[in-house]
Amino acid sequence: MKTADELKERILELKNSLNAVIVAHNYQRPEVQDIADFVGDSLELARQCTEVDADVIVFCGVRFMAESAAILNPERTVLLAEEAGCPLADMIDADDLREWKERYSRAAVVCYVNSTATVKAQSDVCCTSANALQVVESLPQDEILFIPDHHLGHYVSTKTEKRIILYPGFCYVHRRLKPQHIKLGKELHPDASVIVHPECTAEVIAGADAALSTSQMIRYVKANNAQGFLVGTEGGILHRMRLENAEKGFHLLSSSLICHDMKKTTLESVLKTMEERRNVVQVAEEVRVRAKLALDGMIGVS
Ligand code: 13P
Ligand code: SF4
Repeated sequence: MKTADELKERILELKNSLNAVIVAHNYQRPEVQDIADFVGDSLELARQCTEVDADVIVFCGVRFMAESAAILNPERTVLLAEEAGCPLADMIDADDLREWKERYSRAAVVCYVNSTATVKAQSDVCCTSANALQVVESLPQDEILFIPDHHLGHYVSTKTEKRIILYPGFCYVHRRLKPQHIKLGKELHPDASVIVHPECTAEVIAGADAALSTSQMIRYVKANNAQGFLVGTEGGILHRMRLENAEKGFHLLSSSLICHDMKKTTLESVLKTMEERRNVVQVAEEVRVRAKLALDGMIGVS
């Protein structure tokens, strides 16, 4: 078995010989984030992948994120470091969406990026948690069918005058967080600022100081004067927060905030993927072209 240093050394060699770039989501394991050229939230990763000067993108995250990179970069090879999915993305398929579109035919479809390529292809525009409200506000329609995350859609509905129709999808990780966790956290750390992801329930968001995408959280904790933070999102984010803010304290609101799929990727899997050029992400061309329109719309809105 190789040591961590040997794995890193071999990954670096392959990165050069493949002319590859490694990108990782904020929820990845610390050692995976540390070997990445870029770490970010879904919106940043999608944008970053259109700007890289590389033949191969090694994506450390979950399938829908790597799929977005492949949709936006048909001329590059995208490798998903480890076969990992997102249960939220799988809560709606093309048939479900067709049915909902028939029911709400006047509504524009705003599709959270946590979705499959075929669902994106049938949507008007995508969004991430970082720009969902701005995307909704940018559309001419007053009626929006928001898929598939119910909680993010509900959060947006509290910030806009538009009518938001909610699809009942959810993230099992963020749904684990309860108001009780915030209450307990505040008892232990009364001066800490509470930040949660908008995939959390409305009751949890109501008890927080801010609802933010993962990279918005990273910026928030840097800019905020508080010395302690109670964090309501997947635990992998604490690595970057602690690395970049050694003097501040970070506490995960619940130890259950772990995304099983995000944790599948290891240094071993990154190396194996690069050695074998496995897990090539492919999207059928007619789906890709239509899904790209929805993603381009998302990338254009800040
Ligand atoms: P971000 O876009 O905020 O990084 O979130 C992605 C995600 O999967 C949240 O569960
Ligand atoms: Fe999907 Fe939730 Fe995991 Fe994010 S944390 S990748 S939404 S299951």
